[in-house]
Amino acid sequence: MNLSASDYPQIHPPQRLLMGPGPVNADPRVLRAMSAPLIGQYDPAMTGYMNEVMELYRGVFATSNEATLLIDGTSRAGIEAAIVSLVEPGEKVLVPIFGRFGHLLKEIAERVGAEVVVLEKQWGQVFTLAEIDRALRNEKPKVLALVQGDTSTTMNQPLDGVGELCEKHGTLFYTDATASLGGNPFHADSWKVDAATAGLQKCLGGPSGSAPITLSDRAVEVIRSRRHVEAGIDDGSTPQGRRISSNYFDVAMILDYWGPQRLNHHTEATSMLYGARECARLLLAEGIDNAVARHRLHGAAMAAGLTGLGLRIFGDQSHRMNNVVAVHIPDGVDGEAVRTGLLEDYGIEIGTSFGPLHGVVWRIGTMGYNARKDAVMLTLAALEQVLRRSGAQVTAGGGVGAAAEQYSSGAGDRLGRSEPVITPEAEATG
Ligand SMILES: Cc1ncc(COP(=O)(O)O)c(C=O)c1O
Repeated sequence: MNLSASDYPQIHPPQRLLMGPGPVNADPRVLRAMSAPLIGQYDPAMTGYMNEVMELYRGVFATSNEATLLIDGTSRAGIEAAIVSLVEPGEKVLVPIFGRFGHLLKEIAERVGAEVVVLEKQWGQVFTLAEIDRALRNEKPKVLALVQGDTSTTMNQPLDGVGELCEKHGTLFYTDATASLGGNPFHADSWKVDAATAGLQKCLGGPSGSAPITLSDRAVEVIRSRRHVEAGIDDGSTPQGRRISSNYFDVAMILDYWGPQRLNHHTEATSMLYGARECARLLLAEGIDNAVARHRLHGAAMAAGLTGLGLRIFGDQSHRMNNVVAVHIPDGVDGEAVRTGLLEDYGIEIGTSFGPLHGVVWRIGTMGYNARKDAVMLTLAALEQVLRRSGAQVTAGGGVGAAAEQYSSGAGDRLGRSEPVITPEAEATG
């Protein structure tokens, strides 16, 4: 085959405003951090950054868990690492499913060989504590695996109280906070979460490719009881329990790499670590409560604007995530044609949907760096034009008008702020 370099010009992606359910545009400061020079895996500067990442993500997850680190890979790498390391074949896992990502937790647990028991909710709703309590009492699972924010339905499962129930029933509590962390309250310690994983590409304002994880001492004990060090770097310790069936996602070995032993495992993804560090640094510099309030404000403005256009919002709004809203595609409108029109004419991406919601709703995000007034207003103005062209009856100016009203009422924004809060500290060092 004859290949010429000129057939492959340098990558030059189009400018897009990513207003879907994630990924969203990364904060430019995160991209700048990612272009910093590479250093060796055991360079004291690198191990120093690894320790800083652990400290910063303790702040992000609101925990004092020593075992707070990154799993290299996208968010599902974190999910897989948590489940394969906590659960042995034949052990019981309870998965309450209220959207696509509950199905993902079920599938991963099944692949690990767990006995999986599910509870199911209609998409657009969440579980009550009583429902979870009943299932825990009846099933006595080793692990409860529960999504916090399921982007497929936009719902935010309340987690406060779930940890207490798990403790009462002798169950470990794992949650997938990929879509919710940073834009919705999350308190690993006070909610008694044993394991939580996330990703950067939603409210944390980074690219996908790194999965922050935090593990309680109880979870670490379970994982360490399966510690087997690789031949060739054997430290003379005795192998414990049943070996974790994945090498890459063996959290016992990953903890040895991130811990003071620095036992070699994978080669840490340096640029992703720089990016993950910057995401956490920016979030903590803004203040997590401020970031949650910002997501609440812009999410509320987007929802108000969509309603103002005459569109109908999907799902139980009292349990919607702050950072994404699902909106019904009006009757007679080709949902994909509208998405294409937004992309081609305005460079704006909104999300399609999965499963029972495919072709029924669009999902529109206001998260991370894009939880901003200008991004909300542009999206609503563009959507109005594209909808009008596709024959939909929309209220002229209704979208931006309702959003503007929402902003001026200040509802949803405890701080009365409409832009990402950039502290002097973040400005100076960003
Ligand atoms: C709740 C949730 N969990 C898991 C994932 C999977 O994440 P990734 O695509 O980064 O592996 C997503 C992605 O949208 C998600 O929203």
